[in-house]
Amino acid sequence: MPLHEVIPPAAIARRVAELGAEIDARLPGGPLTVVGVLRGAFIFTADLVRAIPRELTVDFLGVRSYGDATVSSGVVEITSDLGAPIAGRHVLLVEDIVDTGLTLRYLLDLLRARGPASLHVCALLAKPAPAGNAVALDFVGFPAPDGFVVGYGLDGRQLYRNLPGINRLAE
Ligand code: IMP
Repeated sequence: MPLHEVIPPAAIARRVAELGAEIDARLPGGPLTVVGVLRGAFIFTADLVRAIPRELTVDFLGVRSYGDATVSSGVVEITSDLGAPIAGRHVLLVEDIVDTGLTLRYLLDLLRARGPASLHVCALLAKPAPAGNAVALDFVGFPAPDGFVVGYGLDGRQLYRNLPGINRLAE
């Protein structure tokens, strides 16, 4: 399938560095857990935590929202839970791409119920939120490019996660 790079690796690296500084400046002091959403955010999370110059722990939440289709099913399944409690900790949830926001809304409710001291969201890519369905995003890397995108952790039918840049996948 033809691929067209829309965000090159160097642009991602620059933006990740900015995000790390922004996050460090805006998040309250105190214990911080960065929670990456698997699998799409694994590379972004790995880069982002190295750009946040403070003490933190890293955890992951395994989620399946699309199955192998490219259209949101609205069904979110937790395939792997956090390794440690987040009560009383500041939590930064790291997502790959926010489309309808259904996945994110579900995850925020789940995490909020566990009593974190604060809960913020950082998404690498965000599509414009449909009216009435907005989920507040605290930090966004880039507006999501048009079409279905893969690479830098994002998959199309489980492929292309290893591409270093963000690519549009043409059917
Ligand atoms: P939402 O629940 O509609 O916001 O969908 C979010 C999830 O769908 C993301 O975490 C991705 O796993 C997946 N997704 C949505 N759009 C894309 C895309 O363009 N490429 C790859 N995955 C996507």
